[in-house]
Amino acid sequence: MAPRKRGMRLVIAGAKGGVGKTVLSTAIGLQAASNGRRVILVDADFNLPTLAISFDLFPEKSLGDVLRGERQIEEILVYAKDVKPAEGSIKIIPGDFDISGLGQRTRAENTSLTTQLSRLAELADLVVYDTASCSGAELDVVLPLADRVLVVMTAEPCGLAGACATLRVIQQYPDLSNCIGLLVNLAPNKPQAEQYAQHLISTAKRTLGLDVQMAGYILSDPHVREAMRTKQQFILESPNAPASMAVKRLVAQMEQNGLAGGTEDHRGFWSWFIGR
Ligand SMILES: Nc1ncnc2c1ncn2[C@@H]1O[C@H](COP(=O)(O)OP(=O)(O)O)[C@@H](O)[C@H]1O
Ligand SMILES: [Mg+2]
Repeated sequence: MAPRKRGMRLVIAGAKGGVGKTVLSTAIGLQAASNGRRVILVDADFNLPTLAISFDLFPEKSLGDVLRGERQIEEILVYAKDVKPAEGSIKIIPGDFDISGLGQRTRAENTSLTTQLSRLAELADLVVYDTASCSGAELDVVLPLADRVLVVMTAEPCGLAGACATLRVIQQYPDLSNCIGLLVNLAPNKPQAEQYAQHLISTAKRTLGLDVQMAGYILSDPHVREAMRTKQQFILESPNAPASMAVKRLVAQMEQNGLAGGTEDHRGFWSWFIGR
């Protein structure tokens, strides 16, 4: 029997805090799960891990146990409470407030964490890695295992600067150069999202030689904040809200282009509805 294809490993990155990495990681995962996919969400934010908390989970086991060599990655998976997609499933790898405290992880520790995290794709169709609001050391744990990266940026000057900083880190991984998508979040309107996106795409090409693909944009949407305030997931609570519709289109595009991980040509994977 041919070996089953492993799932896709998607890293959600962005140097600035508050751009929506965590809520979008979660919404993308939930949407893929409701399409019948087995999804694992990984809290790879070693500074401020909030993914499990956003599901109202406070697990005893976490990535810190894996880093200390006390548990295998498979042992710390938890089901997202109260979230029951029709067909698929959604599980979480909880982060650990101690990991950043462990601070100066050695290269060997980082590599071992990367190896453990990479195994998750054997258990799922899609693994989403929600990362920290910084560049450099934290991303170096997850970028070596990524099939694709989605850079989240806000449509404002410091959003642009943050996205450039993230791209400089991604540039260190040549295998990813055709796999980078840009998602503009919290956009006030479509023209501003397009303007900043085009600016980033041309800057990345000119200064870093990277072909960043436009994945889409998401408007600033009060449903997202309201869901956060009431500890709900906006894509489940308000499935027709603008942000929910945008995430559905993004995931539909991902599904259309194939969620499989691996080495196929990624050019055009993220090309999406900007300008449509
Ligand atoms: N499209 C959006 N519309 C409105 N609020 C949003 C949107 N995206 C994110 N937010 C809000 O921004 C805040 C930060 O989001 P979060 O995902 O925690 O950012 P990050 O993980 O990048 O630090 C949250 O309160 C979230 O509800
Ligand atoms: Mg976050």
